[in-house]
Amino acid sequence: MESRDDELFDEITEVEDEISRFRSTTGNLQDYVAVLRWDPRSWLGGGWGSARAREMRRRRDVYLKKLNDDLDERIRNGTYKPCIQANVILDKEARLNKEELTSISLTMLSGGLDTITTLVAWAIALLAQRPDIQEKACGEIRQMYGEEQALCDAYDDQKCAYVVALVREFLRFYTVLRLALPRATVRDIVYEGVRIPEGTTVFLNAWACNMDAAIWPDPETFRPERWLETPDAPLFTYGLGYRMCAGSLLANRELYLIFMRVLNAFEIVKRTDVDAHPVSGSADPTSLVTMPRRYEVVFRPRNERALREALTRAEGEAKGQEKEEKEKEKVGGL
Ligand code: HEM
Repeated sequence: MESRDDELFDEITEVEDEISRFRSTTGNLQDYVAVLRWDPRSWLGGGWGSARAREMRRRRDVYLKKLNDDLDERIRNGTYKPCIQANVILDKEARLNKEELTSISLTMLSGGLDTITTLVAWAIALLAQRPDIQEKACGEIRQMYGEEQALCDAYDDQKCAYVVALVREFLRFYTVLRLALPRATVRDIVYEGVRIPEGTTVFLNAWACNMDAAIWPDPETFRPERWLETPDAPLFTYGLGYRMCAGSLLANRELYLIFMRVLNAFEIVKRTDVDAHPVSGSADPTSLVTMPRRYEVVFRPRNERALREALTRAEGEAKGQEKEEKEKEKVGGL
């Protein structure tokens, strides 16, 4: 997508948001009570919520096909940019079929979408009520970039220690996937004398681990400095082990850049009251990704002239890049 104004952007975010609600870990009783799966309405293709779920599935298939077809074409033309999906398609050893590739693009889409956006929504709610944290972060960023460079370098890879710590604290304090993702055991396991049979669904309570008083004396306080004092303390938000979040490094970099830019460019001022507490502020405790309630804030430019100049420059660079890519595509197509 070339722009956020592309209709496809709205379609993807709307459908993925809805699907995320269906995927609730605790909201779908039929996942846990087998008899409910025998609801005769589901044999007839009906049943509670099924029509809506089918509709979302249909809409999702349309954009997934489009995204994958576009990528296939760019690979054929030699104009694709390196990305995870292209690497998987081009991996000769993996030899994945269409269904497997679709499954991977599905995971990348839903894995990367509401996790990041939800965490940012919580973070902005908290920052609006904590001008002290905004000022501290802005001061640290300005030591590196000054007041005139409103948007930090896009290639800055986590050099500002305070913002790295701030992002880690957002990740810990809000743990947006509280129970990580359900996993099934692939063989019998004996744990503390109890046999857990193969095929058992297991949840990591990432939230409880992040709030463990054995690790932190003050787990319920939002305090970015803890990560400067103990940078190697464990963070459970991305899960653990070899099936932990495949996008964690990308997510860390994205979140870092978002806050580097937002905090240097704007002062965030609250317009409506919002409960930014991770438990009492949750909009729906049954949803897979824990979201805050709706709220309004004002983003007040700190230095409007410098920001306008930076945005104009960025737009010009993006247009230049776009032109370059179109020319490459033409050559590839020939
Ligand atoms: C704040 C951002 C994010 C959070 C909190 C998050 C969290 C998680 C968690 C808890 C898991 C399950 C780990 C486990 O079972 O141990 C997971 C899996 C996964 N995530 Fe993320 N994630 C985030 C961003 C992303 C992004 C940006 C992408 C990709 C672009 C991504 C792609 C994936 C994939 C592909 C998996 C499945 C890995 C597997 O099954 O082997 N995630 N994520």
